[in-house]
Amino acid sequence: MSMRIVRTIPELRALLKALREGGSRIGFVPTMGYLHEGHASLIRQSTARCDHTVVSIFVNPTQFGPAEDLAKYPRDLERDQVLCQKHGATVLFLPEPSEIYPTGFSTFVEPGELGQVLCGAFRPGHFRGVATVVTKLFNIVQPDLAFFGQKDLQQTVVIRRVVRDLNLPVDIVVAPTVREADGLALSSRNAYLSPEDRQRATALSRGLLAADAAFRAGEQSVAALLALAQKELGEVDELQYLELVDAHTLERTADPIARTVALCVAAKVGTTRLIDNVLLTPDPEAVQFLSHLDAD
Ligand code: PAF
Repeated sequence: MSMRIVRTIPELRALLKALREGGSRIGFVPTMGYLHEGHASLIRQSTARCDHTVVSIFVNPTQFGPAEDLAKYPRDLERDQVLCQKHGATVLFLPEPSEIYPTGFSTFVEPGELGQVLCGAFRPGHFRGVATVVTKLFNIVQPDLAFFGQKDLQQTVVIRRVVRDLNLPVDIVVAPTVREADGLALSSRNAYLSPEDRQRATALSRGLLAADAAFRAGEQSVAALLALAQKELGEVDELQYLELVDAHTLERTADPIARTVALCVAAKVGTTRLIDNVLLTPDPEAVQFLSHLDAD
């Protein structure tokens, strides 16, 4: 099936209405482009479960702070198109900023406390921008299922809460983080890393995986697990946070670890800000997967 490229909301709505009326189940993978194997895995999950998969590429200005990388965010539309088509997307939505934020736009979705902890403390307004654009995209696409990567764990928690609080009729699926062979979580921002910084960037996943291994071997102390991860993180230039939080509420966890928790890290390597996380669950069966955990 060839892939349709759509740039306007009315055109997309008309196309999807026809597909929906024909009985198709619609899957949605919202992205900011510069796609990698992590996005590809989301597209494949969607095509496996849905009749049509819509991928959006929109570098959303409202989720970038004034000193952040909006202007230099990496782009390669030709490569992205090939990747979407290869993995079975049937619709590619490429709106201009004025299509999403017309003159006079003034309504935002404010995620509250969930958007203020972890990354939110370092990126004020970021999750308000994410919650707003994702809500808009859900209203435009009206998907049955929407797919997100676990690498952005806080984003998935915020989006699940928005969906619940605003009664949005969509099911959220969270897919496991895809990693390079040496453990580095795939991210469009990895493109910023110099070869030397690329080496040091493995400190994040090494720290998380060391704690994960200890947890699976029976270590239950939050302090001990954090110390193990911290040991590997000496090579980063700025450790912004390393926290063990409840995977549903993002509240700091205490001993003993009774629910599924996430060990989350954000650090700068050179000038590049990277994030990563692993889930630690007292019941290994339950890690299959966060997508099945109830957001309540
Ligand atoms: O994860 C991303 O790429 C973005 O935050 C998203 C969900 C597409 C919203 O702009």
